[in-house]
Amino acid sequence: MRLPLVAGNWKMNKRIAEGRALARAVAEGVARLGGARGRAEVVLGPPYLALPAVAEAAAGSGLGVAGQDCSPEKDGAFTGEVSAAMLKDAGATHVILGHSERRELLGEADALVARKASAALAGGLLPILCLGEALPLRQAGKTLDHVGRQIRESILAAFPSPPEGLIVAYEPIWAIGTGVTATPAQAQEVHAFIRSRLGEIYGVDWAAKTRILYGGSVKPDNAAELFAQPDIDGGLIGGASLKSEDFLAIVGAALTAR
Ligand code: PGA
Repeated sequence: MRLPLVAGNWKMNKRIAEGRALARAVAEGVARLGGARGRAEVVLGPPYLALPAVAEAAAGSGLGVAGQDCSPEKDGAFTGEVSAAMLKDAGATHVILGHSERRELLGEADALVARKASAALAGGLLPILCLGEALPLRQAGKTLDHVGRQIRESILAAFPSPPEGLIVAYEPIWAIGTGVTATPAQAQEVHAFIRSRLGEIYGVDWAAKTRILYGGSVKPDNAAELFAQPDIDGGLIGGASLKSEDFLAIVGAALTAR
């Protein structure tokens, strides 16, 4: 009942022309795979400056386009910020929020992530809201406590009632960009926990239809195994989203995983 979703997070990579070329290559590749409509959702996450060109290149292909962040504010004196409405105007359909690189490198706290998520949904973008623990927390056996707190403070704090269209991404920080992937069983355990907590908060029907993506060193050779887990509904892909062949292989895995 949940359509798998594969989203690329290009991070701070790709100039405008490179982004356009990658978007075209992915759109053509997805068409070669028989098209994604009704079978999976595929989303590209370029940096802001390449986003309009990527949206244009993806137009008509059914691919979604995600911003990598957005302001919690609507308009006004917020130097350097980009609002949800601006992203939507430029062609975005989704926005990645609360990524661990922003949380860890830029000090984004759950309360800010919650305000951004609320602004995104109000502005017509589907948030892909990232959660995940650093290695010391996992080693201390505190993964579920930590993720549970993030659910309360960055999701429940933003949405007292069920947020239609919210997408969650579980990304263990120790697996991001390191080549170390969570095992399918490790990831499944946390995904099942997230779905059950969301079910307690928003109801089991809402939780049963909500996508929970896995992120952290997803590659063509491990995607199928991860996506076959019952509570893993696709992936948020960093490094492997920068090459069309790798990203398309991962999309292919999502199309056939379940
Ligand atoms: P990675 O990044 O696939 O390069 O590990 C994932 C992410 O940060 O979203």
